[in-house]
Amino acid sequence: MVERSLRVKVAGLRLENPLLLASGIVGVTVDSLTRAIESGAGGAVSKSIGLEPREGYRNPTLVATDSGLVNAVGLSNPGARVFSEELAAVKGRRLPIVVSIFGGGPAEFGRVVEMLDGNEFLAYELNLSCPHVEGVGTEIGHDPEVAASVVRSVRSRTKKPVFAKLSANTHRMVDVAKAAVDSGADGLTAINTMRAMTIEVETRRPTLSHKFGGLSGTSIRPIAIARIYELYQAFKVPIIGCGGVSTWEHAVEMLLAGASSVEVGTALYNGYGVFSDINQGITNYMVRKRFKKVQEMVGLGHKF
Ligand SMILES: Cc1cc2nc3c(=O)[nH]c(=O)nc-3n(C[C@H](O)[C@H](O)[C@H](O)COP(=O)(O)O)c2cc1C
Repeated sequence: MVERSLRVKVAGLRLENPLLLASGIVGVTVDSLTRAIESGAGGAVSKSIGLEPREGYRNPTLVATDSGLVNAVGLSNPGARVFSEELAAVKGRRLPIVVSIFGGGPAEFGRVVEMLDGNEFLAYELNLSCPHVEGVGTEIGHDPEVAASVVRSVRSRTKKPVFAKLSANTHRMVDVAKAAVDSGADGLTAINTMRAMTIEVETRRPTLSHKFGGLSGTSIRPIAIARIYELYQAFKVPIIGCGGVSTWEHAVEMLLAGASSVEVGTALYNGYGVFSDINQGITNYMVRKRFKKVQEMVGLGHKF
């Protein structure tokens, strides 16, 4: 039987398989990223790292609903200096880590890159899309001009591939993507969580301390698929798909829409086995449909 490899190359990133741990799902330590990689992920995206340490919002920051999770963690992270030290400690292990970063504007993004760039990791994912943190989310990710200057600032400070993570909370998503690509982004990640809220009926209070949060999980997948499909039609750069993937069918659907690799977030709360399960399912599908490479499936949903 022909040996099926799940290897992919995404804007210069060489991954053993198309699955990546999505940003922010399991803590902020390099150890937790390593655990996802050892469990079968082709790579892992860090929690978004900012210039200074940040505690995030007070509890409750996460609520489970029958439509998925709503979170407003508030970009809690140890700051670029501490995270840089953590990365330095795993030097030589060649871990397929992508570092997600955020900032209040082009200069702050640039400072974060300067502090992290000397370390060994694969690429940056720019969080231009957090739906619930004032000053660093929608203000940046919904405005093509600001997004362009953020990408230019990062681009001028690193040779590593840069992915812009987009928000589907704006009708200007494709304009923001164009601004990012024209300013030197090597790829696009779509999508982040969708702005959301829940209210408890007995107390009549919004559940999360921050009131607004972002919805993730199965229910946002059709939104992600539509956005990835649109981006694939509009751009040549590779797309990393994200949003509601928990089975191999979901992952294949994202590849067919145009994603070259797929991030898994909320589904991880059901166990780290999700990566090997999805990889096994993709392999079986490839054998059944006679695909030799994952890349052969990318964008096939556009032929109809
Ligand atoms: C608790 C939690 C924290 C998150 N933190 C971040 C973050 O720091 N940076 C980021 O870009 N996305 C963050 N996200 C969004 C995820 O990376 C992903 O885009 C989103 O959850 C959709 O994918 P999923 O449905 O597979 O979870 C977070 C999501 C959750 C649930």
